[in-house]
Amino acid sequence: MTSDVFATGHYASGLREKLKRGIELGPKYYLFDVPRYWRQRRQRGLPALDLGALWNPVRSLRHETYTSQPVPPRYEEALRALYDAGVRFDNPPARTAALVAMWWATRITPGDAIECGAYRGATSLLLAVLGKLHDVPQRVLMLDTFAGMPAPSKFDSSRRPGEFTPPPDWPTTIQQQAEALGVADRIEIHRGLFSDTFPAIAAHTPTFSFAHIDANIYQGTLDACVRTLPLMAKGGAVVFDDYNGLMDLGARLAIDEYLRDHHLPAPSPLAECSAYLRM
Ligand SMILES: C[S@@+](CC[C@H](N)C(=O)[O-])C[C@H]1O[C@@H](n2cnc3c(N)ncnc32)[C@H](O)[C@@H]1O
Repeated sequence: MTSDVFATGHYASGLREKLKRGIELGPKYYLFDVPRYWRQRRQRGLPALDLGALWNPVRSLRHETYTSQPVPPRYEEALRALYDAGVRFDNPPARTAALVAMWWATRITPGDAIECGAYRGATSLLLAVLGKLHDVPQRVLMLDTFAGMPAPSKFDSSRRPGEFTPPPDWPTTIQQQAEALGVADRIEIHRGLFSDTFPAIAAHTPTFSFAHIDANIYQGTLDACVRTLPLMAKGGAVVFDDYNGLMDLGARLAIDEYLRDHHLPAPSPLAECSAYLRM
């Protein structure tokens, strides 16, 4: 069953869990997080009243996709191969399928794919496997501390330092999984803070056709935008996993600041809490 490849530890999957999560997080979100976020937006020179943020709890808890692009042929086959190699997804099926469909829509745009916030690596490995199955001439760059979330800032309301800590030496595990999948030559693992690992990447003057920005917190999201978006090819796409997240208003603030400063439009909803921007 390809559904077994999706682990459910990091999101509410069933109705009961969603209700529980809504009751736990909803009042805090509306009474404390949103008012504080609006104040912070004003301090950062953004229009304070971001009414879109009021929909985040609904978007986060509904398994809805807001675009209708097809997933690539052989998608199920790729999921089965990942399952057999021991890979498990931490993002849910609908969000993963929508992301992959967006990647597929950029397949003729020249450039590599990059994931800022790769965690256990499932999403990047999926893109690498699909790239191989369809002869897409592309590497997938995987960036993370691989040691858990760095310390959140005053702009982050619900994330903890060390959250998303994988088992020790996880990059070696990813490398072994990539070898089992026959995509070791299609991935690059960059371990450390984005601000520390990116200079070596930038030295090779890469171009990206697809970027997945999934850092959850303000600073990591801003660093990822600053370093990745200027390298995006025309026709490429950026997926922001957390833009409409119930726990990630710091990431939304960082994205809005970056887009305002670079005269780019607001991202459009993609699936659940994710949003995208075509370049
Ligand atoms: C939700 S997880 C990513 C999930 C992954 N994209 C997936 O599809 O399964 C967020 C990750 O962002 C990473 N992160 C956040 N800020 C970072 C930074 N400044 N530098 C490196 N990694 C960072 C955390 O370590 C964490 O693993």
